[in-house]
Amino acid sequence: MGLLDKHGAIERNASFLLVGSLLVVSIGGIVEIAPLFYLENTIEKVEGMRPYTPLELAGRDIYIREGCYLCHSQMIRPFRDEVERFGHYSLAAESMYDHPFQWGSKRTGPDLARVGDRYSNEWHVRHLTDPRSVVPESVMPTYAFMKNTPLETDLISSALKANAMVGVPYDESMIENALSDLHAQANPDLDSSGIEGRYINVRIEDYDGNPEMVSEMDAMIAYLQMLGTLVDFSTYEPEANYR
Ligand code: HEC
Repeated sequence: MGLLDKHGAIERNASFLLVGSLLVVSIGGIVEIAPLFYLENTIEKVEGMRPYTPLELAGRDIYIREGCYLCHSQMIRPFRDEVERFGHYSLAAESMYDHPFQWGSKRTGPDLARVGDRYSNEWHVRHLTDPRSVVPESVMPTYAFMKNTPLETDLISSALKANAMVGVPYDESMIENALSDLHAQANPDLDSSGIEGRYINVRIEDYDGNPEMVSEMDAMIAYLQMLGTLVDFSTYEPEANYR
C-alpha cells in the first residue's frame, strides 16, 4: 500500500479529515505566531527617533481635533511615484510614538509624512490662514482662528503622562517640565538648555511670528515642521534582513 492510498483513508472520513486539517493548521499557526510573543520589539530601531516635544504634541492634538487626517495621509509607500514626490518611504519606527498613528488612507491633499522643513514658518502661517493666497486652486479649509487662539496648556503634563502610560519613553523630568519646555520651544528668548537636554533635534522658533502669545498656530506649525525630519536618510542603512 503506497502513501497515497493511506491518504485516501483520511479523505474518505470527514471527521478524520477535519481533525487532521486542524492539527496541520495549528502547527503552521504556532510556528508563525509564537515567536512574536518572545520578541521584545517588532519595530526596527532607527537612530534619531524621539518622542514629540510638548509643543509638537499639542500641535498633533490640534491636527487630530481639526480632522486634518481626513484629507492628508502620513505614510509614504515604497513605490517610485510616491518616493519621488514625497521622499524616502515611511519606516515603521517613524510612527512608533504616535497614539493613534496618522497613516490615513485619504489624500485630498498631499501626504504630510515629510512636510517638515519643506516650507518656511511664514508660508505655513499664510497657508493655514488662507490656503488660496498661496495655492489658488486649493480646496483646503481656512484655519485663520489658530493664530488668535491661545494654546490650551493646562493639561500638557497629563498629555505626556498619558502617552508614557502606553509606552512612549517620557521620563519624570520631561513630564515635570512639560509646560516650561512648551514655552521654551516657542520663544527663542527663553533659556533653551532644559528642552535641548531633554529632546534631540528641536527647532526653537517663534513659529507664528507673534511673541506675545503661544497660539494654536505655534503648536500646529511646530508639529508640521518636525514631520519626517528626525531620521537622517543620508546615513540611514536598513537592517540586513529588511533589505
Ligand atoms: C478638505 C481637505 C483638507 C483638509 C481638511 C486639510 N487639508 Fe491641507 N491640503 C489640502 C489640499 C487639497 C492641499 C493642496 C493644496 C494646498 O497646498 O493648499 C493641502 C495642502 C496642505 C499642506 C501643504 C502640503 C505640501 O506638501 O505642499 C499642508 C502643510 C497642509 N495641507 C496642512 C493641513 C493641516 C495642518 C490641516 C488641518 C488643520 C489640513 N491641511 C486640513 C486639503 C485639506
